[in-house]
Amino acid sequence: MRVLKNLFEQNKKWAEKVKQSDPGFFLNLSKQQNPEYLWIGCSDSRVPANQIVDMPPGEIFVHRNIANVVAHTDLNCLSVIQYAVEVLKVKHIIVCGHYGCGGIQAAMDNKEHGLIDNWLRNIKDVYRYHQTKFDTLQNEREKVDLLCELNVVEQVANVCHTTIVQNAWKSGRELAVHGWIYNIEDGILKDLNVCITGLNEISDTHRLK
Ligand code: CO
Repeated sequence: MRVLKNLFEQNKKWAEKVKQSDPGFFLNLSKQQNPEYLWIGCSDSRVPANQIVDMPPGEIFVHRNIANVVAHTDLNCLSVIQYAVEVLKVKHIIVCGHYGCGGIQAAMDNKEHGLIDNWLRNIKDVYRYHQTKFDTLQNEREKVDLLCELNVVEQVANVCHTTIVQNAWKSGRELAVHGWIYNIEDGILKDLNVCITGLNEISDTHRLK
């Protein structure tokens, strides 16, 4: 059967439930979206942006890819950031990684995975920048989790280095870029305390004059 009947049934039930608690919900939302947050996260099915922070449709603009990478050549991600910052005028950009990330693991295992290896090279670069930090760790899981964290920090920097974010700051806009990590084992988010809120907090090499 081509039609995924159960999904349509679930959708109907969900829409009914939402309408019962707020009859105008969909009509109001259909007129505009006004999210304060842009979420850049992993595609992993266990890390759904809205559910983790218990927010309804309309509250978070979302971009997800394997291992929450922000590459300066990725038109998809850059377009999302541009629209979120310049049109929706979000106040916060959250890069959210997660422990035990399969993309991070694949970037570390030195096996061939096909096309995706080109994507994972972004993460291998992060590993290379921090190589000495891994040498003291014995446990493979610890190494993966450290790279999960360092990758978030790197992608936060990549967001800040875009002309989009720098121009927003230059024009005096209030915009904070956050780095978070999610634990799929207990459902808890952790702030990595790498929040960046202005031009003076980014590296000289990348800062626009
Ligand atoms: Co992942």
